[in-house]
Amino acid sequence: MTHQPQASGAFAGLTSRVARGEREVLEQFYEHLRRHPVLIYGAGKIAERIHAVLRRNRIEVDRVWDLNAGVLQDRIAEAPVEQPNVAAIDPASRSQHIVIVTIFAHLVNARVQADLQAAGFTKTCGDRVLLNRLLHEDCRSQIERDQFSFDLKRCHLCPVQKDEASPCDIFEREIEQRFVRDMPAAQQDRFVIRSMGVLISNKCNLTCVGCNHLRDHYNPSDNVDLESRQVLQDLGRITESVDLIKTVVLVGGEAFLHRDVGWIIRRILELPRIGILHVITNGTVLPKDEAVYGLLQDPRVFVEISGYGPRISQHLQIKRSQFIEQLTKHEISFRYVEQLQWTDFGGFEHRGYSEDEIASIYETCCFVSNDLFDGKLHKCSRSAYGRHIGKIPDYPSDYVDVRAAEGPELRRQLIGFFADTHPRVCLHCNGTTAKTIEAGRQVQRSRRRPRQLAAAE
Ligand SMILES: C[S@@+](CC[C@H](N)C(=O)[O-])C[C@H]1O[C@@H](n2cnc3c(N)ncnc32)[C@H](O)[C@@H]1O
Ligand code: SF4
Ligand code: SF4
Repeated sequence: MTHQPQASGAFAGLTSRVARGEREVLEQFYEHLRRHPVLIYGAGKIAERIHAVLRRNRIEVDRVWDLNAGVLQDRIAEAPVEQPNVAAIDPASRSQHIVIVTIFAHLVNARVQADLQAAGFTKTCGDRVLLNRLLHEDCRSQIERDQFSFDLKRCHLCPVQKDEASPCDIFEREIEQRFVRDMPAAQQDRFVIRSMGVLISNKCNLTCVGCNHLRDHYNPSDNVDLESRQVLQDLGRITESVDLIKTVVLVGGEAFLHRDVGWIIRRILELPRIGILHVITNGTVLPKDEAVYGLLQDPRVFVEISGYGPRISQHLQIKRSQFIEQLTKHEISFRYVEQLQWTDFGGFEHRGYSEDEIASIYETCCFVSNDLFDGKLHKCSRSAYGRHIGKIPDYPSDYVDVRAAEGPELRRQLIGFFADTHPRVCLHCNGTTAKTIEAGRQVQRSRRRPRQLAAAE
């Protein structure tokens, strides 16, 4: 049974045909878009990619709507970003608009489309299959016209590259040809990991409420910096058992707090069968060793700074500006992403979901990051860190113990792990629902209590 989002809305027919490989259908979709006013709902990464492709295909975007307009970037290319305002559009003309919903969290997407339809916007389109194909075809046609140039930042924004069900062959080919060392000879049953996290330290200089690394639930004794050589050994074992890891995501807590972060970055870049190294940071910890900037200049590295605006202290805001200055000065590929709303994953209690419900929660989850922590590969950081701090029971079927197997046996276990759509940890989670919390709000010091005290209440 699959819980993948099904095509819905006015363009479901086109989606099914696109899914069957009918390329010419996209031209029909473009024609629809040229004949109607176009509105993009959501002003994030996906919107940026879609907007660029529409412009290249001579399609004007009338409006971009986002609930965070004003706080977020205020325009995408030349289109201003506005608060959603149904009343600004005459009811009689609403059915003429095509609204492209660029939020791919399935439940949120469905809710936004339903609300728009109820308000008279009958031509909504939020089908991931159709929109991804639109983006992919754009790159493909640029290749055919010899106009394509690989841009890591663009691929980083692109949802096609992140699609597990139908991964991007162009991205894969480009990174294999440009970056990957020691690719095994092409074989039939290639085993490729699209993306996996390497958690090197769970320490952090911030304590954000609702952090998906659970930093607001830590006792001081829970903090660990993993031993660098061990991290590399664990990751090395995985690389020996797979054909390719397209993206390794280096993350903490706050990865730049790890004393050996430079050494770890250098050694990851030396490993075979790895494409891109993506570093996620809150941007407030400046590397002590200048040489780290030199390593980040590697064309395979992309740094993403999570922005918590003024919710962090002035001192840390200054540090963040200094970090951005350094990245700019060293011409390092990076992106600053202002974080406004986060998913509310809820408490750790067992929710009693049925097996079908677990699969549904898991398959619609946007936070499956395949995180390696302390020798175990978990589905997500909630699994890794929830187990570490004793909030989630130990479910051995939820992870692969990388130190307990190697070679073909490890490969077999990894294949099983990636095929599993019923992890037990999801029993303790809301999943990606429309419930959100403010991103990056800091725990007040007086609110932090030792765990024993909290447990006794
Ligand atoms: C847990 S952080 C670790 C890296 C670094 N400390 C940082 O804040 O960027 C990794 C990413 O998860 C995001 N994140 C944390 N909690 C989240 C939540 N509840 N919902 C959605 N994203 C979340 C952060 O904004 C960040 O982009
Ligand atoms: S989200 Fe906040 S608390 Fe969590 S790891 Fe990042 S900076 Fe630290
Ligand atoms: S526990 Fe399941 S639903 Fe929650 S974040 Fe992890 S994979 Fe997603």
